[in-house]
Amino acid sequence: MPIVKPSSEAIAEAGRLLRSGALVALPTETVYGLGADATNPRAVAAIFEAKGRPQFNPLIVHVATREAAGLIVDMDPLAERLAGAFWPGPLTLVLPRRTDSRISDLVTAGLDTVAIRMPDHPVATAVLMAAGVPVAAPSANRSGHVSATRAEHVDEDLGARVAMIVDAGPAALGVESTVLRVIGGEVVLLRPGAVPADAIEAVIGRSLIRATEGGSAPLSPGQLESHYAPRARVRPDAIEVQAGEGLLAFGEPLATNGPVINLSRERDLYQAAAGLFAALRQLDATGVASIAVMPIPEHGLGEAINDRLRRAALGR
Ligand code: TXA
Ligand code: MG
Repeated sequence: MPIVKPSSEAIAEAGRLLRSGALVALPTETVYGLGADATNPRAVAAIFEAKGRPQFNPLIVHVATREAAGLIVDMDPLAERLAGAFWPGPLTLVLPRRTDSRISDLVTAGLDTVAIRMPDHPVATAVLMAAGVPVAAPSANRSGHVSATRAEHVDEDLGARVAMIVDAGPAALGVESTVLRVIGGEVVLLRPGAVPADAIEAVIGRSLIRATEGGSAPLSPGQLESHYAPRARVRPDAIEVQAGEGLLAFGEPLATNGPVINLSRERDLYQAAAGLFAALRQLDATGVASIAVMPIPEHGLGEAINDRLRRAALGR
């Protein structure tokens, strides 16, 4: 089992492995990432192979510093303002790719934009510094599965395929980064995530455009498929629990004799996000055929939580 604690030797080794083209799973504040050198097409191809992705979705590039980001993408003043407010942190910016950037076309799926973020996690930063290369990293789970928020989840899904899993304990936030496209003065929310939309609107002083299906703004390519699906069927907005169902509760739980996991008895959306994917995995492990999910308010982090639950409900 390649799970290691983040000692200085382990971090140096993770950096060497990444530079040599190997896959390394690394912790971030959102979820664990399956990392590869973003400038090495063979290493990036290995990510798609390991995840079993049906198609080549573009990947997020992770950097340790804003200077490193500036070598890869063109940061206009609006992008600089957003990076200033939220980096390091769980905000991914989709920006025009610099013509001299060395990022593999496989990372961008041939697009002329790059999704980039600077994680807010000391171990992620240390691994990125040790690697000395930008690191492409989707969530470290098999394609379509629930995202990995603990090193053991990565091991379950991908253990045989990664050179090393750097274990820094459970991810603090538990949902992926918010993905924003910032081009030509237009700011489009491509994926709701750990930075709530209203926090972004407060910084830019206007409403976000949401890339919803049917709208005019293009979707984030990876958002088209069902995602985050456990084996059990997921039934959101449940107001009662049916026989044989597990319950994912929020607040005072509904009456049931089946297995229950409460995302937050206090109805705290941060606590709910942090435990969401682990709770889906745990309820799945009880063998229930269906998971009833109590309604979760749509404001703040609730937008990202409900997005993941709706995708989970689409099934595999
Ligand atoms: O929190 C996170 O963002 C995690 C951790 C590991 O950093 N990473 C993650 O990566 O969730 P991934 O590959 O699962 O999600 C990438 C998202 C997808 O929705 C994809 O479509 C979008 O970013 N994306 C990447 N490059 C893009 C681009 N050039 N244009 C539009 N969307 C892009
Ligand atoms: Mg993912």
